[in-house]
Amino acid sequence: MRLGVCYYPEHWPESTWESDARRMAQMGISRVRIAEFAWSRIEPEPGRYEWAWLDRAVDTLARHGLEVVMGTPTASPPKWLVDAHPDILPVLHDGRAMQFGSRRHYDISSASYRQECARIVEAMTRRYGEHRAVVAWQTDNEFGCHNTLPSYTPAALTRFRRWLVARYETIDALNAAWGNVFWSMEYRGFDEIELPTHTPTDANPSHVLDFRRFQSGEVASFHQLQADLIRKHAPGRDILHNFMGFYSAFDHYAFARHGLDVAAWDSYPVPRTEVLPLPEADKHCWARTGHPDVSAFSHDLYRGVGKGRMWVMEQQAGPVNWAPWNPVPQPGMVRLWTWEAFAHGAELVSYFRWRQCPFAQEQMHSGLNAPDDELSPGGEEVMRVGAELRGLGTPAYGAMPSERAPVALLFDYEADWVIETQRHGADFDYQHLVFEWYSAFRSFGIDVDIVSARDDVSAYRLVAAPTLPILPDSVVEQISQGGNHWVFGPRTGSKSETFAIVDGLPPGKLRSVLPMRVAEVESLRPSLKPSLRLDGIDGEAVRWREHVQPGAGTEVLVRFDDGLPALLRRERVTYMAACFDRALLGAAIAKCLRDAGIDVSPLPEGLRLRRRGAVRFAINYGDREQRVPAPSGARFLLGSSVVGPIDVAAWIEED
Ligand code: GAL
Repeated sequence: MRLGVCYYPEHWPESTWESDARRMAQMGISRVRIAEFAWSRIEPEPGRYEWAWLDRAVDTLARHGLEVVMGTPTASPPKWLVDAHPDILPVLHDGRAMQFGSRRHYDISSASYRQECARIVEAMTRRYGEHRAVVAWQTDNEFGCHNTLPSYTPAALTRFRRWLVARYETIDALNAAWGNVFWSMEYRGFDEIELPTHTPTDANPSHVLDFRRFQSGEVASFHQLQADLIRKHAPGRDILHNFMGFYSAFDHYAFARHGLDVAAWDSYPVPRTEVLPLPEADKHCWARTGHPDVSAFSHDLYRGVGKGRMWVMEQQAGPVNWAPWNPVPQPGMVRLWTWEAFAHGAELVSYFRWRQCPFAQEQMHSGLNAPDDELSPGGEEVMRVGAELRGLGTPAYGAMPSERAPVALLFDYEADWVIETQRHGADFDYQHLVFEWYSAFRSFGIDVDIVSARDDVSAYRLVAAPTLPILPDSVVEQISQGGNHWVFGPRTGSKSETFAIVDGLPPGKLRSVLPMRVAEVESLRPSLKPSLRLDGIDGEAVRWREHVQPGAGTEVLVRFDDGLPALLRRERVTYMAACFDRALLGAAIAKCLRDAGIDVSPLPEGLRLRRRGAVRFAINYGDREQRVPAPSGARFLLGSSVVGPIDVAAWIEED
């Protein structure tokens, strides 16, 4: 459990570097990420490298015992590079090319940009690859940020056509797979295919889905280009990328197979809560803390993406600049978010940023220090965390990996692309649905691992899939072979690999283990709310409902008041035939948990629990003190058996 910080030596007079480094070390920070936007200072003119300043910056940090996470600067190509290769600018779906003057102004498919990136990364890794202080490398910065994916350039089109040839081999096969006989969309050759944009009404969903798959692969191969060079010149160093919260334009599990040691991500709980499609009441309630499940969700997802290795590369440390409204976090939150990240398995929590920058785009974004170099309130909290970590004796607890949780929640990137391409109801949002399920589990005190639908989940007591429109064969195989419980949400098994309705109607392959037929589906405007009562709880379907006919052996556990099945089950497999409101979803999930033999104890609002190794954490986002469920005689590492508002407790249950 280490602390880190994001630092931009190029923003500050060199005379401040020494005291910056000294103060970082005093605070308990041990890792510093630098250089990820510094291309114009590293290479001010084509081929003229200026290493001396960066050498001195790295050496200054190293002198104070700090380790460096080096960022490759490819998220911000300098002006001379863009002018020399205008084709690197990305193109939006409306056909506009983006201009120079901020960042991420590049097309992931551009051959000339890939070449230039390989050149700068080769130069940097040759220079610092074996530097003793440089312990890790971050590629680029937040792939896809600012909606820069997908990009609709001629380079993307050429590579997409090639990708389609490899996938379908013949144009007849593609026409058949996409159903192009509809509306006379048939092609005579691959060179007739365009990018799926600028169509008067929806482009063919099969075309859109394949384009998204292609783009996802482009991101992974762009990263791999850099990762291969880092591996070659910086042996033994961790390679990471800083992913974003609730961002799904590329498949992060697949990405992780292209040269990634650690899944790092950037945690901004307050603005993230503001921009998620949550009910207004939630946004208001958690406006200064972030929703209690928002960061945890990404911690658990990225722990899965990184196969156990997860860092927070950028942790919000005060008010930010990029949401519609940017309140100051509640005092204590920076400390709470830090401990929460550790509780969920983070190896490192690194704050954004060391000092607020008084110029340019992010001048309204706080840091651990104000521009006048006084510690900010967030900085004060980090001092406290640093002292607490020292008090704990980090090595004893830090090495503890997270144990397997009782519940696996399947998060699937293609599911998100399918739903986004064909919402069918204006408010059907995949990530929101998964988040609702996650939040329901967490509010019962249950630890959750978020994993791929293709992972082996046989060791989990309960596997939950809020929806999986394209159902992998492996899921049905695992159900048939395993002994664990499964619960699926609506739209599962509804689409084929090529985005058509499955043979024999949904839920497709799931019918072999759960015989039923989804005869009709309906999306529900907010005023249409079919109701029902489950285990004494009244609730309603929202957004989506299916009219299901149960097959042989499938039992209807509960029906809507109008008689339609709401919850169906055969043996260990349960199906929710609608999206449920919070109360009903809670009741349905509690039932599945109990039936899977997992204890359910509802937590007070804002309280969350999480185990890391032998240590159990209680994290209180709420405004009241709460008693924590520690056994008598538990040894407390942080706090005590009563945890105050915006506070944390941690204890060891068995020593
Ligand atoms: C992140 C980004 C940082 C900084 C930060 C501000 O998305 O990686 O460079 O812009 O947001 O919150």
